[in-house]
Amino acid sequence: MKSLTALAILLLGAGLATTATLADDAPATGTAASAPPATLAWAAQHFKDTCSACHGADGAQPTPLPGNPPPIIAGQYRDYLVQALTEYRDGQRQNIIMAPQAKALNNAQIRALAAYISSLPTPLHTLPRPEFGH
Ligand code: HEC
Repeated sequence: MKSLTALAILLLGAGLATTATLADDAPATGTAASAPPATLAWAAQHFKDTCSACHGADGAQPTPLPGNPPPIIAGQYRDYLVQALTEYRDGQRQNIIMAPQAKALNNAQIRALAAYISSLPTPLHTLPRPEFGH
């Protein structure tokens, strides 16, 4: 029961962090200081304007680019998306296509995009892992 309460608090905290606009986040290099706040609405628009060209309008039907096909990202875990975008931006994960996409984003924008993308309906599913009881 205790852990359920802790989980609820965690989820609530994560939700609040999603909707909050984090003015303390410094804009990424090349981003105007007057960048709009990183809300879910901003994320939906940015996804439509930029990311959908490769990942598909719904994030689930990517454009089949030869050689380096963009993955399905709709419904991916939010923390995974934050990690991936941060690593593309900061160079721990190297990809010539995604690096410039991520370099345009500050931390708040990455969090907002991750929240938006993870909320999209997805064909992704967790493989059965009987050794973990599911
Ligand atoms: C020009 C095409 C293109 C655009 C535009 C683009 N992506 Fe990507 N994206 C890719 C490709 C290709 C990969 C696979 C890169 C790799 O092999 O690491 C990728 C990978 C990713 C991944 C890693 C997924 C995983 O399963 O590890 C995320 C997250 C992602 N993109 C998010 C975004 C977001 C958010 C935007 C918009 C800001 C965006 N992408 C714009 C082509 C694109």
